[in-house]
Amino acid sequence: MDGSADALSELYADFSGLHMEGGWHRVKPALWPAPLENFEPHHWRYANVKPLLDRAGKLIGTDKAERRNLTMTNPVAGNLYPTVRTIVAAYQMIKPGEVARAHRHTPNALRLILEGHGTHTVVNGNRVEMRPGDVLLTPAWAWHSHDNVGEDDCYWMDFLDVPLVHLLESMFYEPHPDGVEQDVVAVDHSPIAFRWEDSLKRLEDAPDTPEADAHQSIELGAPALKTISLHVQKLHAGRATRPRRTTANNIFAVMHGEGKTVVDGKTFQWRFGDTICAPAWRPYQHAASSDAILLKVSDAPTMAALGWLKQEASA
Ligand SMILES: [Fe+2]
Repeated sequence: MDGSADALSELYADFSGLHMEGGWHRVKPALWPAPLENFEPHHWRYANVKPLLDRAGKLIGTDKAERRNLTMTNPVAGNLYPTVRTIVAAYQMIKPGEVARAHRHTPNALRLILEGHGTHTVVNGNRVEMRPGDVLLTPAWAWHSHDNVGEDDCYWMDFLDVPLVHLLESMFYEPHPDGVEQDVVAVDHSPIAFRWEDSLKRLEDAPDTPEADAHQSIELGAPALKTISLHVQKLHAGRATRPRRTTANNIFAVMHGEGKTVVDGKTFQWRFGDTICAPAWRPYQHAASSDAILLKVSDAPTMAALGWLKQEASA
């Protein structure tokens, strides 16, 4: 082989002209030995977020915003939206008398209620009260709206697989033609509602799991959504969990207590309402200073369905 540099350059230019690239001289590699460190570990403090939601509440009504939410954008350079590769998390607030109109979309969604009473969510015609500590699901393509008939500003966290839907180009979205659903039934028990008191009771009976990423853990649903699993996890004060890493992207929401999480060398001191993300393959370890409860929101079902879920203890 004695191809000159000029002849190669001409060849590569011809590749480019056909929108092609030689596999042996890529601008960017296509394969690598282990997950890249793309998304960053990060921590959002509820104490910083809540005043911003309150300010937004004075300026932006539900007439202007389909949802008054603040998404948690991963700080990695160039990122405009996802919290981790497949999931976006957000804080949301709804004021007394407000209605967030009904719509539906292909992304799956769930909510964790932080504060306030009097807000209901309507999912496919079933109206369910949302109380602090509850987790409520909105599966793909289900109609859903929210309304606050109480006296409290209500705060919650949303988690959606929108970034995965973006990657897969499978987005559909539709506002409800009537604004909100017309045929609505009030229900207290629903397969889409996981109540805080039920989670606490189940946690009490959950076995100790010294090898896992929490000391006691229960799963909500099996899994809760096709793409997202949910675990309510108890951390015992003064006991660190074993460091672990997984190909799943995990987001932890603090439901109760205080502590710290170390994600790939970064230490985050957290308390109620905070959010910590541990992107794929970044080792993480929790240590609570008081008994604490986290909600782990994970894309493990997506990884498992594709045969790519791998998890192991890490140093
Ligand atoms: Fe929605």
